[in-house]
Amino acid sequence: MSAARRSPRFDVDHLIDDPRTHVIVCCGSGGVGKTTTAAALGLRAAERGRQVVVLTIDPARRLAQAMGLTELDNSPREVPGITAPEGGRLDAMMLDMKRTFDEVVEAHTTPERARQILANPFYQALSSSFAGTQEYMAMEKLGQLRRRGQWDLIVVDTPPSRSALDFLDAPERLGSFLDGRLIRLLGGPVRAGGRAYRAFFQAGFNVVTGAMTKVLGGDLLKDVQTFVNALDTMFGGFRERAEQTYALLQRPETAFVVVAAPEPDALREASYFVDRLSEDGMPLAGLALNRIHQDGPGGIGEEQAIAGAERLEATGGHDLTAALLRLHADRLAAAARDRRAGDRFAAAHPDVPVTRVPALAVDVSDLDGLRQIGDLLSTGG
Ligand SMILES: Nc1ncnc2c1ncn2[C@@H]1O[C@H](COP(=O)(O)OP(=O)(O)OP(=O)(O)O)[C@@H](O)[C@H]1O
Ligand SMILES: [Mg+2]
Repeated sequence: MSAARRSPRFDVDHLIDDPRTHVIVCCGSGGVGKTTTAAALGLRAAERGRQVVVLTIDPARRLAQAMGLTELDNSPREVPGITAPEGGRLDAMMLDMKRTFDEVVEAHTTPERARQILANPFYQALSSSFAGTQEYMAMEKLGQLRRRGQWDLIVVDTPPSRSALDFLDAPERLGSFLDGRLIRLLGGPVRAGGRAYRAFFQAGFNVVTGAMTKVLGGDLLKDVQTFVNALDTMFGGFRERAEQTYALLQRPETAFVVVAAPEPDALREASYFVDRLSEDGMPLAGLALNRIHQDGPGGIGEEQAIAGAERLEATGGHDLTAALLRLHADRLAAAARDRRAGDRFAAAHPDVPVTRVPALAVDVSDLDGLRQIGDLLSTGG
């Protein structure tokens, strides 16, 4: 057996206490604990004296309630019940994707134009369900919060995408789509009615909008035309905006925390993501391995436990003890699996600092639970 590689320790408190850290982005694949980690880091930073806002995306209902997020009003509110020293403060909000899109429109055009756009069915479908909109709007919101300048630390949760990379790719993709030649072509016939143009337009339309037509129905064409024409007069371009926020993510004041479960799929995603951050010059702070199984108290090893259970099962009469021994063996096996998964990551990325957070027995749905996760993040598990 090769010697286990140890990753450098991810010193979470050093990161959140550093006054140069202004943005923390929690990324990772679906369901690994991004929202929990973002909320726990925000709470911990506030209770250590920083002025923090946490931008959460689709938090579980009970967690949202615990943070005082009972309304989806798209702006931060102070979280009640925290015990921060002088100067410390925690605000939190849930991202309302559609409302954020509406705000962008309203901020860049006349009230009359804004009304037309907001009422447009194509716009409504785009702003509430188009793939990538949530990622785009999370970045947009981050940009807005940053410009407000009210907080010295912004902790950002990312949408529940299958792949962590979507957070980085989707805004550019959506921006290109909205700024792109094709959508301008879709808007074309209103401005240029020539037959050749129309034929070309029709071809492009057929290729790309098959899926959208299903969602939007037959009036799509007219809606898109009016939408695009309104967009034309509106502002400097969605792509440009996406690029600006992207640039914020490359600044040294930003720190990415990659969250992963100790499972091959999640760690593979985390690996891709770590590589991508370094390619794009984005600052990675470390990896949080979340929900790891622990060995528990030492003593009986896995093989011993299984052998013991088998002996008891053969003689009979000690069913409960045998079941407990099997449970113990399962737990040790799970802990060993998690350790191996972590070791493989460490071998591939020996320089990435890692912290380990054990799986708690219950869901994290109140401030005390978040504090506990914060402690575990900081001690490394
Ligand atoms: N260390 C932990 N111990 C126990 N439960 C945890 C832990 N971390 C997260 N959870 C629970 O796991 C569930 C998923 O966590 P969370 O919502 O933070 O994941 P997510 O990555 O944000 O998911 P999504 O991709 O759907 O947004 C939640 O119910 C949360 O309470
Ligand atoms: Mg989440």
